[in-house]
Amino acid sequence: MTPMPTIRSARDADRAAMLAIVNDAARRYRGVIPADRWHEPYMGADELAREIADGVDFRVAELDGRLAGVMGIQDRGDVALVRHAYVSSAVQQRGIGSALLRDLLAQSAKPVLIGTWAAASWAIAFYERHGIFVGPVDV
Ligand SMILES: CC(C)(COP(=O)(O)OP(=O)(O)OC[C@H]1O[C@@H](n2cnc3c(N)ncnc32)[C@H](O)[C@@H]1OP(=O)(O)O)[C@@H](O)C(=O)NCCC(=O)NCCS
Repeated sequence: MTPMPTIRSARDADRAAMLAIVNDAARRYRGVIPADRWHEPYMGADELAREIADGVDFRVAELDGRLAGVMGIQDRGDVALVRHAYVSSAVQQRGIGSALLRDLLAQSAKPVLIGTWAAASWAIAFYERHGIFVGPVDV
């Protein structure tokens, strides 16, 4: 049986591991999202720092003492936005993304929305299954 991940707030010391997860998982977008929006690494340290400074509250999932997933939530007044949802490709489809999402949803009393690539059908199905409204960001 797959062990349950531990979900906790991200710390400064997690940043390198968080970026490694984002940039590994985001390879899934290559050849799917518009080519001019794909770049590698997908997220750099400067962008992560900007997002945190902008109020994105990141949570991480630990599996066997190692970071396995990252997901953020951002208060936007009447609603909260899920931002940057990534699970290491080696451990996807084991419930880690769902555990992170449940944790974020439990934190927010506001309606939760998410924007993602219209072509990322797997991500849209994942969010809709959790009852979240999904809007495309690239149309
Ligand atoms: C989208 C993403 C964050 C989901 O994380 P995850 O850990 O794979 O998600 P889960 O394992 O909780 O759920 C994924 C699927 O696995 C299934 N699943 C969950 N636990 C499972 C288990 N123990 N065994 C088999 N399948 C399982 C779920 O039913 C779910 O199906 P669905 O997507 O059709 O709803 C992750 O796959 C990812 O990083 N993808 C690439 C980047 C991306 O698209 N990010 C979203 C950006 S907005």
